[in-house]
Amino acid sequence: MSYHDPVLLKESIEYLAVKRDGIYVDATFGGGGHSKAILAQLGPKGRLLGFDQDEDASANLLDDPRFTFVAGNFRHLQRYLRLHGVEKIDGLLADLGVSSHQFDTAERGFSYRFESELDMRMDRGGGKTAADILNTYDANSLQQIFSEYGEVRNARTLAQRIAEVRGKKPFKTVGDLLALAEALAKGQKMRYLSQVFQALRMEVNEEAEVLEALLQGAQEALNPEGRLVVISYHSIEDRMVKNFLKTGNIQGEVQSDFYGNIYRPFEILTKKAEAPSQEELNRNPRARSAKMRAGIRLK
Ligand SMILES: C[S@@+](CC[C@H](N)C(=O)[O-])C[C@H]1O[C@@H](n2cnc3c(N)ncnc32)[C@H](O)[C@@H]1O
Repeated sequence: MSYHDPVLLKESIEYLAVKRDGIYVDATFGGGGHSKAILAQLGPKGRLLGFDQDEDASANLLDDPRFTFVAGNFRHLQRYLRLHGVEKIDGLLADLGVSSHQFDTAERGFSYRFESELDMRMDRGGGKTAADILNTYDANSLQQIFSEYGEVRNARTLAQRIAEVRGKKPFKTVGDLLALAEALAKGQKMRYLSQVFQALRMEVNEEAEVLEALLQGAQEALNPEGRLVVISYHSIEDRMVKNFLKTGNIQGEVQSDFYGNIYRPFEILTKKAEAPSQEELNRNPRARSAKMRAGIRLK
């Protein structure tokens, strides 16, 4: 099985408009599908840094002198760039979320299809697991996560049940959570479980926080005319990207100077978010929730 089938490959690379001698970042290297396409457009003096916080991605390293793998979280984009002697970049591509490899590897705990420890960390070097969250967050916080990140219909009941059950036996495995969630699913069981698991995964990996840090880092690091391309898979993330391209902050608050000139950090290339074609969806149903937005950094 392939590590990951890159989503919106042709379209995202077109928006990146790779300059032959430019310096580029693939913030989410994964199986390297997008990275290979960027390298194919770079000349001999170009450079590409590929980030991934999951050590499994290092099995896919590209043997190319123009490529550097950065084993770390893209939330620290600028720190890593400095470490690698890079001050400014000409483009950054981020293809958020988890890879098929992560999702399909039973022991990672990302999927309700397999019995395993409830882990869900992309970076297994530290941080809290999904089980830690279920066992330690208060019911209000759990409710908020399920409702905000998962749009879970009965988030309050689910959170309360979790708080009750863990008093008798702490959560440890996917099966522990399934036993409880399935009973509350009512009807569309798979959809419900996907929502519950997605919400937990986003909290475990602090996906909203790290995206904000990435967007801010990219804005600082991009040269004028540099390109930012983001593929997201969740409405919260898409809204953050949309707002950021427009205003330079994820809330979408318009800032203006003393004279009333509105601050516009990017020229927006995607008036509406772009989605995969029907042909791509037929080939790769996992692309179904993808939304892509792109912008050019203004001076
Ligand atoms: C959807 S996959 C990217 C697939 C890639 N575009 C390809 O063509 O194979 C997302 C990857 O980004 C990594 N990732 C997600 N969040 C990250 C973060 N905050 N820092 C670094 N890597 C991250 C994941 O570990 C995963 O391998």
